[in-house]
Amino acid sequence: MAVVTGRKLDAPAVRADFPIFEQRFHGKPLAYLDSANSSQKPRQVLAAMQEFYETSYANVHRAVYELGERSTAALEGAREKAARFLNAPSARDVIFVRNATEGLNLVAYSWGLNNLGAGDAVVVTELEHHSNFVPWQYIARRHGAEFRMLPLDEQGELDLSGLDEVGRSANVKVVATNLVSNSIGTINDLGRLVSWAHEQGAIFVCDAAQAAPHMAVDVQALGVDFLAISGHKMCGPSGIGALWGRAELLQSMEPFLMGGHMISSVGFERTTWGELPHKFEAGTSPIAEAVGLGAAIDYLEAIGLDAVESHEHELAAYALEQLQELPGVRLYGPPADRRAGIVSFNVQGIHPHDVAQVLDSEGVCIRAGHHCCQPLMAKLGVMATNRASFYLYTVREEIDQLVAGVRKAQRIFA
Ligand SMILES: Cc1ncc(COP(=O)(O)O)c(C=O)c1O
Repeated sequence: MAVVTGRKLDAPAVRADFPIFEQRFHGKPLAYLDSANSSQKPRQVLAAMQEFYETSYANVHRAVYELGERSTAALEGAREKAARFLNAPSARDVIFVRNATEGLNLVAYSWGLNNLGAGDAVVVTELEHHSNFVPWQYIARRHGAEFRMLPLDEQGELDLSGLDEVGRSANVKVVATNLVSNSIGTINDLGRLVSWAHEQGAIFVCDAAQAAPHMAVDVQALGVDFLAISGHKMCGPSGIGALWGRAELLQSMEPFLMGGHMISSVGFERTTWGELPHKFEAGTSPIAEAVGLGAAIDYLEAIGLDAVESHEHELAAYALEQLQELPGVRLYGPPADRRAGIVSFNVQGIHPHDVAQVLDSEGVCIRAGHHCCQPLMAKLGVMATNRASFYLYTVREEIDQLVAGVRKAQRIFA
């Protein structure tokens, strides 16, 4: 485990926990600047999953033998860790899902299908990932509800000046936004929006897929009603995420997926649902993945989310400063102090895919595309951007490698 002194993160020491960095790509050290897409995994997470498979694996909640009890305890232990990580009042209200997308769909279907109708409105923002946009658009349209978008200002931050007008002209039932934008890194100050949503009698659904890896996320302090995260973005394995929901809402909702495990009793005439969280966890759980997520939470907590956050702010400031000096580079999003470690940019005259391909030849991984944010791209007036994103293992040398690679692309395409 990497050593952290005070609040300062020792990135080279953290990096040594991640075996992926032992390789070279195209003869160059790996500069992995695509963590907003998916993060790399430390040895501690890989070892926890391997040990679990080697010593404790069986199906959960149904075995009457000791091995099954051990496996069930591991799954439920991971749920306790996830609840603590989110400061959830009870682990019972933390549902394991495949990823944030599934968590958000669960709310849209299970809550939305039964609570939205003609004359109601769902409000999202121009900053949303498709995962917190498309399900709401679909459910709203299917039930004749209005689908509205809150705009962004010039800096790429939420413009809340029109809230009163929205409140006067619409019967708002759902407000759904992210906490951190995956495209341009904006950290949204949700306080006013959450209060406003509740004044309207609406529920507030928070997509924290991009926030949870990078900053402390506290469902009680945020005051939201639902919050979704993905394990693979926060040093955990793919195939596991979590949805936290307010107990009274979860209890009032119908299940999303149906089948084994989520029932209380099944008869020819009628089936009744199990208790929380099982009501929302049909079928065999992602057991080893939950163990991996629990290990990832332990890892992040040992390092400290505040240390991760300030490390990323420093890297974002450095990257913005370096990229700004390059002629023909356009940057998107707010100043470094109001964004996570995510920098979106375009290079004049070069398609983002070409930039990314040249960077790959230099060992640099970035994402190029619309980042599952086509409404935001439309707002920015572009089809795509390049996006470099940083995490706890990112070092400045990788940003230097990025800048050198962009210079190379400019020379090639001059
Ligand atoms: C802000 C945000 N929301 C939702 C998602 C969807 O995450 P997943 O693909 O893990 O479901 C992502 C993934 O990039 C994201 O960045």
